[in-house]
Amino acid sequence: MSAPSWHTWNGRNPWQHRTTPLQSHVMQLGLIHHVGYVVADLDDEIPVYRDTLGMAVAVREVMPDQGVEAALLGAGPSYVELIAPLTDDTGVARFLAKKGPGMHHVAFAVADLQSTLRELADGGVEVIDSAPRRGLGGHMVAFLHPRSTGGVLTELVEDHSQYEHTRLEA
Ligand code: CO
Repeated sequence: MSAPSWHTWNGRNPWQHRTTPLQSHVMQLGLIHHVGYVVADLDDEIPVYRDTLGMAVAVREVMPDQGVEAALLGAGPSYVELIAPLTDDTGVARFLAKKGPGMHHVAFAVADLQSTLRELADGGVEVIDSAPRRGLGGHMVAFLHPRSTGGVLTELVEDHSQYEHTRLEA
């Protein structure tokens, strides 16, 4: 039996779930795609999650336009996203300076990010990104303002990854 690819989890793709039209935008949210942790240095932190917790690195990428380097490490069908600032003038760098390393945001999978964003904005949710933009690993992402989401920075992800999901088998 070949190793399962990113696109299957127990025989199905957990992220590209089919949604039927629903009354509430809340019902369009899928599984938790990843939880974002801010760290000072990826080279220091990746071994902790990889070697101690057994989480495989699925993707690692420098994103100069956002001033960060980030990596996704598999945890079942979800990920932990480690984010390190490249410069001192980014939001991530300010977060690190003010609060130290730790949890930064939670990301939910959605089937159609553009329409979900529109529906949320129409419903009065404050969006940081009014349109989807490219995120780590080729995903399309957008952030919602914590003022609208109980004080927690919330990201929505339309999963477009092409890489193999290299997590360890449970
Ligand atoms: Co994220």
